Amino acid sequence: MNVLVYDSHSYDRQFLEAANRGRHTLDFTTSQLDLQTATLAQGHAAICIFVNDDGSAPVLEKLASLGVRAIALRSTGFNNVDLEAAKRFGITVMRVAYYSPYAVAEHAVALLQTLNRHTHRAYNRTREFNFRLGGLLGRDIHGSTVGVVGTGKIGLAFASIMKGFGCKLLGYDAAENPACRELGMTYKPLNELLPEADIVSLHVPLLPATRHLINQDTLALMKPGAFLINTSRGGLVDTEALTEALRQGRLAGVGLDVYEEEDGLFFQDLSDRVVSDDVLARLMMFPNVLITGHQAFFTREAVTTIAETTLQNLDDFAAGRLNDNVLTKN
Ligand SMILES: NC(=O)c1ccc[n+]([C@@H]2O[C@H](COP(=O)([O-])OP(=O)(O)OC[C@H]3O[C@@H](n4cnc5c(N)ncnc54)[C@H](O)[C@@H]3O)[C@@H](O)[C@H]2O)c1
Repeated sequence: MNVLVYDSHSYDRQFLEAANRGRHTLDFTTSQLDLQTATLAQGHAAICIFVNDDGSAPVLEKLASLGVRAIALRSTGFNNVDLEAAKRFGITVMRVAYYSPYAVAEHAVALLQTLNRHTHRAYNRTREFNFRLGGLLGRDIHGSTVGVVGTGKIGLAFASIMKGFGCKLLGYDAAENPACRELGMTYKPLNELLPEADIVSLHVPLLPATRHLINQDTLALMKPGAFLINTSRGGLVDTEALTEALRQGRLAGVGLDVYEEEDGLFFQDLSDRVVSDDVLARLMMFPNVLITGHQAFFTREAVTTIAETTLQNLDDFAAGRLNDNVLTKN
C-alpha cells in the first residue's frame, strides 16, 4: 500500500522504515495534516499521523475524496480525530493501543524529581563550578501521598514506581483497576483526592468529560504546596487557571509534558523566532514550572513498538482484518 507519513521527523523515518522492511511504500512529509496539506495524500490509500495532526471532519472529507481509506495513528490518544466523521466517510482509523506505559510513567517521575530536587538548576550551577546549595532544598518523596488521576496502563506504571518510593497511593478513575488496588491504592472521588495529595499526576485521556478537569475550582481544592504533573494531554488543564494558581504561590511545582495549545509549537525548533503565545511565555517565567515538549513517549522501546504496531495495523487493514486497534468499528 502507498502510505503518506505526516508530521514526520528523522526518528519517525528511521523506526518506521526499520519496521516496514519493504512491505509498504512509505512516503514522508514534515507537514502536519490540515485542510491544505490533505491534498498531499493524493495517490495514497493510507496516511499515518501523530498527536497534533488535524483529523477533523472537513479534513477527513477531503482525504476521503482523494481516495484515502485508512489512517494509522502513531499514538494511543485519538482526541484529534473525529471518529464519527471517519466512519461516515468510510475511513478506517487505527491507533497504537499499547506501547511501553513505563516510558510515560518514568518521564512523569523525572519531571517530579527534577522539580523537587532542582537538578536542572544544579546542573547549570555546577557547570560553572558553583557548588552552593541555596535554592536547591527539596523534600523526601517517601511518605508522600500521591493522587493518580487515571489508573489505566500508565497510571498503574506510575503508581508502581511511587509505591517503590514509599508513597501512599490514592486513585481517581471512572473504572477501578484491580492491579492498582493490589498495590494498596485507595480510590476516592476527585474532590476528596485533591485536598489530600502532595503529588497529583494526570493519566486520563482527553475527552469532553475530562477537558479542563484541572480548573479554577479543582485547583482550589489541591493541597497547598502540592506538585502537579501532566504527561497526558494539555487540554486536561485550564492553563489560565493554572497560571493564576502559580501566581498565587499555591503549588510547589508544575511539570508539563503537554500543553493545550501545543499544536504548532511542540516538535519544532522555534529558538530563533518570537513565540507569540503569551500564556506559554508566562508559564515559562515561573521558576517552579518545568515544560518538556511531549517527549514522555520517546524511549527506544516505546518508539520501536509504535512503529511495529503501526506497520502491523497497515498490514491488517490491507488484508481486510479489523484488529483491536481499529477505532472505527461499529
Ligand atoms: N505524553 C505522552 O507522550 C503520552 C504518551 C502516551 C499516552 N499519553 C496519554 O496518556 C493517556 C493515558 O494512557 P493509558 O495508556 O494509561 O490509557 P488507558 O486507557 O490504559 O487508561 C486511561 C484511564 O482513564 C480512565 N478514564 C477514562 N475516562 C475517564 C473519565 N471521564 N473520568 C475518569 N477516568 C477516566 C479509564 O477508565 C482508564 O483507566 C492517553 O490517553 C494519552 O492521552 C501521553
